[in-house]
Amino acid sequence: MADANPFQDPLRFERRVPSCAVVIFGANGDLTKRKLLPSLYRLAFERRLPQGFAVIGISRTAMTDVEFRKKMESSVKEFLENSPFDQELWDDFARGLYYIAGDVADAALYQRLSVRLDEISQIRQTAGNALFYLSTQPSHYATAAEGLGNAGLARAAGGAWRRLVVEKPFGHDQSSAKDLELALHRHFSEEQIYRIDHYLGKETVQNILAFRFGNPLFEPLWNRQYIQHVQITAAESIGVEGRGGYYQEAGALRDMIQNHLLQVLATVAMEPSAVFEPTAVRDERAKLLRSIRIYKPDDVDTFAVAGQYGPSASGAKAMPGFRQEEGVDPKAMTDTYAAVEFQIDNWRWAGVPFYVRSGKRMPKRVTDIAIRFNPVPHSLFSSDTARPNMLILRIQPEEGISLRFSSKQPGPGMKLRPVSMDFNYGTSFGMRTPTAYETLLVDAMTGDATLYTRQDMVEASWEAVQPVLDVWGDRKADPFPNYAAGSWGPRESDEMLSRKGHEWRIP
Ligand code: BG6
Repeated sequence: MADANPFQDPLRFERRVPSCAVVIFGANGDLTKRKLLPSLYRLAFERRLPQGFAVIGISRTAMTDVEFRKKMESSVKEFLENSPFDQELWDDFARGLYYIAGDVADAALYQRLSVRLDEISQIRQTAGNALFYLSTQPSHYATAAEGLGNAGLARAAGGAWRRLVVEKPFGHDQSSAKDLELALHRHFSEEQIYRIDHYLGKETVQNILAFRFGNPLFEPLWNRQYIQHVQITAAESIGVEGRGGYYQEAGALRDMIQNHLLQVLATVAMEPSAVFEPTAVRDERAKLLRSIRIYKPDDVDTFAVAGQYGPSASGAKAMPGFRQEEGVDPKAMTDTYAAVEFQIDNWRWAGVPFYVRSGKRMPKRVTDIAIRFNPVPHSLFSSDTARPNMLILRIQPEEGISLRFSSKQPGPGMKLRPVSMDFNYGTSFGMRTPTAYETLLVDAMTGDATLYTRQDMVEASWEAVQPVLDVWGDRKADPFPNYAAGSWGPRESDEMLSRKGHEWRIP
């Protein structure tokens, strides 16, 4: 299926956003206040939004436009992080914010939205273009898409576009992902659907493509002959932060690995596309995801480990266990930590383990990818001082790339010590890095789906984790808690690697 090609201007950053309205379902929710509005405001601050622009917020809470603007003003001030807040610019931006109260299941909501969209298109000159952003509870996605479709809002007259952005999770498992897809496709075509995975919008994740395909240095080494294994870590120090209800149903494998980390894995392992164009890039990602080995139920205990944190009294602050967190069932069998060894069955990667782990309440927040090269074929120096070469792609919070190699320690004898060569985004570029949501909102508004996931990728990544979810879901005994809050996860995860002579790197 061909995507619209937005690459008239190959400099993605320079592309102009066309006049449009962004309609946010779930406007009273966390994502709107933490990410969407602060990102839109930053884009306005950097003069990247068009003259003809409006935001329509929708949720059940009764609110006037003025109240919505006030509420968004305090959220933006709170969540802008290090960007400046300019009151005059905000006042101007806020004149384009509107609000509609309503229930996604009520057909009358879409009639009101239709009337408002027409009025606002006139007042704000948005040219009839609209980006519908589903940031509600996932159980409402299909209902909202249906409501929009039945009210005729999925199509616009006179060449205007309509697009639908869907937040993860895309289903709860393989079969519900298919059901959701059918519901979305009833009214929207694949070209209109933008499935957001905010990891793909992170600058450092995009830079993996630049690093791999813009430099000839490492590509010859990027395969099974030179790489021993790859570790992808996404550790969070926070717990479930008031999201206990959602999280206890999801767990780490669904929440982070099925989507974000498999997309990162695909970015590290995919083949170069012939051109940098949405269909071509996404075809390569999809092909890689389809090459992941699907485990049999009997293999799951060998290749996957689940963990759940228990309370910790160590350190300055005592932390509750997962089962003691607010909104969590005291018997919840949720994985707050998951580690999986993925195997990629293709010529480039056969036999190279890709170890992927993610957990809540780890000792620190860090996301990185460590690529460990093979040891030297014959060691000339004392083996306990030489260390294998390692390339570390640092996604967050420190953003950069480090290359670790061995160097002679000054002085007599030939003692080697690992040293590191570092590239750091902040010092090299000296400019603010756009957040993932800024990048992805611009992309959706300009019609560039390169960094959005496609249905075939969603299905392939569900397929890759489904056997693990099934085995974990059928557990009879209760293995939890099996790691203390503030530690690096369960012992079984270390054992999974040590069986192959490998060990987790401490990031
Ligand atoms: C979300 C998950 O998709 O990603 C959260 O639902 C997680 O549980 C978050 O905390 C992590 O995102 P980031 O950008 O902070 O690494």
